[in-house]
Amino acid sequence: MSNNNTRENFGSKIGAILAAAGSAVGLGNIWRFPIETGQNGGAAFILIYIGCVILLGIPIMMSEFLIGRHTQANTAGAYRKLAPGTPWRWVGRLGVLSGFVILSYYSVVAGWTAEYTILAIGNAFEGKTTADFPAIFTEFVSNPWKSVFWMLAFMIITHVIVTRGVKSGIEKFSKLMMPVLFVILIILAICSVALPGASQGLEFLLKPDFSKITGSAILSAMGQAFFSLSLGLGCLCTYASYFNQETNIGKTALSVSLIDTFVAIMSGFIIFPAVFNAGYTLDSSDIGPSLLFITMPNVFGQAFGSIPALAYIVSVLFYFLLVLAALTSTISMHEVVTAYVSEEFAMSRRKAATLVTLSCSIVGVVCALSFGPFEGVKIFGMTIFDFFDYTASNFMLPIGGMLIAIFTGWYLDKKIVRDEITNNGTLRAPYLPLIIFILKYIAPIAIACILLGQIGIF
Ligand code: PHE
Repeated sequence: MSNNNTRENFGSKIGAILAAAGSAVGLGNIWRFPIETGQNGGAAFILIYIGCVILLGIPIMMSEFLIGRHTQANTAGAYRKLAPGTPWRWVGRLGVLSGFVILSYYSVVAGWTAEYTILAIGNAFEGKTTADFPAIFTEFVSNPWKSVFWMLAFMIITHVIVTRGVKSGIEKFSKLMMPVLFVILIILAICSVALPGASQGLEFLLKPDFSKITGSAILSAMGQAFFSLSLGLGCLCTYASYFNQETNIGKTALSVSLIDTFVAIMSGFIIFPAVFNAGYTLDSSDIGPSLLFITMPNVFGQAFGSIPALAYIVSVLFYFLLVLAALTSTISMHEVVTAYVSEEFAMSRRKAATLVTLSCSIVGVVCALSFGPFEGVKIFGMTIFDFFDYTASNFMLPIGGMLIAIFTGWYLDKKIVRDEITNNGTLRAPYLPLIIFILKYIAPIAIACILLGQIGIF
């Protein structure tokens, strides 16, 4: 393990876990996971997803952690240090590009959560019926000014926290907000499961129908695992560069993966009983990006309608906490790119962050407008927003993850791997040979097969 005294560190172990969990837990869990589950057949998809988390997610997360902590550098710098003069630095650069792309479109949805927080505060959902919510949402996203405004607002808040630094910005924020998020999630899940008609939603979540599993469902499960765990772009590698020498890499990876999967499944428990309760069908366009913004306001009305003050408080809290979950994730994407720009181009953190915020905002505006004026602009039949989301999570992140696995499994000196995982021999890690086997063979082969299958080569 190397030491570099000029770089900031997370102040505590729990701070490090919550910051990494803050990156992982986000719109991917509460917004994207239910959509993917809905579109890909429910429980069977969830089982494949969990398989991907265990088999690919945890080992690759450990790789990112050990590379980051060992080098104490941004993700491109990490490969430059470990494999000087080789093309491996492109793995880091691909990650920075993925972080840039995801931050740009993610901020658009994050902006929606901010708008909905304001709507909830203004009590805009009271007295509305199931039929009103699609109209409210469509009106909002197709209004170019509002979407762009909220996307920019979100980008600026992210910017402010990132410029405050690792300990007093990122760590402090995550430590405060993550516990609150858990409490609210559990309360909402209980409310949703208690709704009349919930059993249909629960069945969808818990009773696997394997006939629904196709190649593209497997690709989506893998893409979702990478996206949700913030893997494959060096985000967790960058965060691990701020881990101190006592952090237990194996335990941290396990904790982050468990927290992330727990939040995703809880979100399913909130969304699906409500979807069925509100009479939506799963085969239509009901399950799209709008799910969270059409169904959820309805849940509040239905579940707490008899006590309006409670309905009000819960909806405000829910959207506010979505904002926070999204923020802990946008911060981590921003940090990947900011750390890269600042360290590789010897720029102050503030200047690097400003450059990142400005350029991401420009791409973000284009993504925001793809729900309105640019709706007709299609790339491979997808809107700009969908194209970015599909390409980044189904291709860029898995390819990044595959290369990270190959790097750690084949290239990296195993002494470094052992020293990092066991904290220089002070921790027991009997699982280490298994992790190395997975990184060497299983992860690269599995990811390659799924990707090749999808582009039609198998
Ligand atoms: N994991 C985050 C989420 O689930 C999204 C994310 C992806 C964050 C990649 C950082 C890097 O919302």
